[in-house]
Amino acid sequence: DKDMGPDLEKVLISADEVQARLAGLARAIETDYDGKDVLLVGVLNGALVVMADLIRELHIDTEMDWMAISSYGAGTKSSGVVRIMKDLGADIQNRHVLVVEDIIDSGLTLSWLLSNLRSRGPASLEVVTLLRKPDAAKVAIDVKYVGFDIPNEFVVGYGLDYAQRFRGLPFIGTLAPHVYSS
Ligand code: PRP
Ligand code: MN
Ligand code: MG
Repeated sequence: DKDMGPDLEKVLISADEVQARLAGLARAIETDYDGKDVLLVGVLNGALVVMADLIRELHIDTEMDWMAISSYGAGTKSSGVVRIMKDLGADIQNRHVLVVEDIIDSGLTLSWLLSNLRSRGPASLEVVTLLRKPDAAKVAIDVKYVGFDIPNEFVVGYGLDYAQRFRGLPFIGTLAPHVYSS
């Protein structure tokens, strides 16, 4: 079942804390986008859970679209070289685009994505992320809406995976060292 289990070390952010923070972010977004049409752009797969809760929390109607992108090259993770696996359905020219992410780690994924989206001429382009790891940043990104700044630990749950596992946990947990050291 989806309790802690032997592969998790601790709960870093509880389900209640996640929901409360998302509500706070939603209030800020509603205020900032008052009277504007917003297009939420989720980054598959991790952002799925944040998106699902955020759109239900928002008191304004929004549109939703998705991108799937994949790092490739020498490293297994976040080389910064990115390929589009699934592009947006919508034309974002002159649209108010709000990118939805679960976590900003090195920042390389988002950095690439933002320059790609910016080249399409949106009216505005901002980011909401549930988590950010300041100590892991390899590139500085201006992020308007951040749920939590967290330490540079391996976190899972609420959309975040380790080898595709744990995405369905309703809280953010840290992985037990035996999982990633074995
Ligand atoms: C994770 C996470 C972010 C990205 C952050 O996605 O969901 O999208 O990495 O890393 P970065 O800041 O170092 O670039 P991942 O590539 O694991 O795909 P997933 O969302 O399908 O898990
Ligand atoms: Mn992701
Ligand atoms: Mg992942």
